[in-house]
Amino acid sequence: MSTAAAPATILVVFGTRPEAIKLFPVVAALEADPRFRPVVCVSAQHREMLDQVLSIAGIVPDYDLNVMQPGQTLDALTAQLLVGLGKVMDEVQPDRVIVQGDTATAMAGALAAYYRKLPVDHVEAGLRSGNIYHPWPEEINRKIIGSMAALHFAPTATSAAALHAENVDPARVHVTGNTVIDALHWVSEKIAAEPALAAGLAPLEARFAGKRIIGVTSHRRENFGGGLEAIADAVRRIAARPDVALVFPVHPNPNVRMVMNDALAGLDNVALIEPLDYPHFARLLGLAEIMLTDSGGVQEEAPALGKPVLVMRETTERPEGLAAGTAKLVGTDADRIVTEISALLDDKAAYEAMARAHNPFGDGTAARRIVEILGNEIGRQT
Ligand code: UD1
Ligand code: UDP
Repeated sequence: MSTAAAPATILVVFGTRPEAIKLFPVVAALEADPRFRPVVCVSAQHREMLDQVLSIAGIVPDYDLNVMQPGQTLDALTAQLLVGLGKVMDEVQPDRVIVQGDTATAMAGALAAYYRKLPVDHVEAGLRSGNIYHPWPEEINRKIIGSMAALHFAPTATSAAALHAENVDPARVHVTGNTVIDALHWVSEKIAAEPALAAGLAPLEARFAGKRIIGVTSHRRENFGGGLEAIADAVRRIAARPDVALVFPVHPNPNVRMVMNDALAGLDNVALIEPLDYPHFARLLGLAEIMLTDSGGVQEEAPALGKPVLVMRETTERPEGLAAGTAKLVGTDADRIVTEISALLDDKAAYEAMARAHNPFGDGTAARRIVEILGNEIGRQT
């Protein structure tokens, strides 16, 4: 008679759109492996944008803390997360906890696990901008997680080197690629098999037929106020060109919505739309000639698709796209953004130089690698 060990219970904690996109491949890989019993706890730090991902990925969370409040402050959010996630950990009694990235949910999840002396494994470890206010508060969130993580799944050699430089034990650091590339491959295959999943942009595609599409996203807290106003100003000025159309799924944060609606509503060449679900956003990435963004995830997806990405930040924790030439930092000065976009639109050689598909962030097998490493780890412990 076989005496197979009981599967290890892995509590996977996330709460926002990008964490969900980057963790659904990990949840799927854990579910496919009999050595593990994944338990999914969502904080719902985001609500609608999280649910969009859960729905396409087919994840039904075991726990849903439903913490989102309109315009939540960082301290109220963090306090609620810490207490709520701690209670779930007490109930589930997991063997290990997985968090992803640098959100308030990830940081509070790691801290609650640490308070229970549970090993925390960090997906997308080692990203560093070197500036604690850019991005804010993410740079500190990920440093806090890095200071207590058991295993650090670094997407690239650069992020692994950042951890080594902070004296993290190299044996605990594994370069796996970024799971966002797994997610992108998965959704691309899904759309190819079922085009209706991304067909909702058809009216926009018809409206902007013949125009050069620029995809825009913006949500960073450090850009609230003047930064967002400058971004809106730049979008308005670029939209004055008759040959372009800007498609801008607007983040539901009221601080973002108000500025963008005030500055951009009703412009002929600008479509301010609701956040797209992942298949439709993948479609937009495909249609766009250029992405203009302050997002982390979009900086990783655009190079994989060969789309030049202009990053509206002062600094980035993802230098791989810059090094490869598909991403460029353009800050949040309106004149600079307009100049850089115009250069790409008007100079074919400059455009071609940036529009090369390559994969600095992985080959789409990160989740599988993470689960293999976790398997070795639980094997080592028993
Ligand atoms: C959060 C993360 C940020 C991540 C971003 C991804 C923190 C501190 N910030 O920022 O690291 O890059 O998510 O998008 O963890 N809202 C809705 N519906 C939603 C989602 C948000 O209405 O589905 C509105 C709510 O009013 C909410 C506000 O947006 O209060 C802000 O959400 P929050 O998660 O606090 O911050 P983000 O700016 O989204
Ligand atoms: N995304 C999406 N719909 C949108 C905008 C973005 O599905 O309307 C996806 C995008 O493909 C990427 C992720 O959301 O994978 C990025 O999330 P966001 O910019 O909110 O957060 P960040 O990556 O900056 O933390």
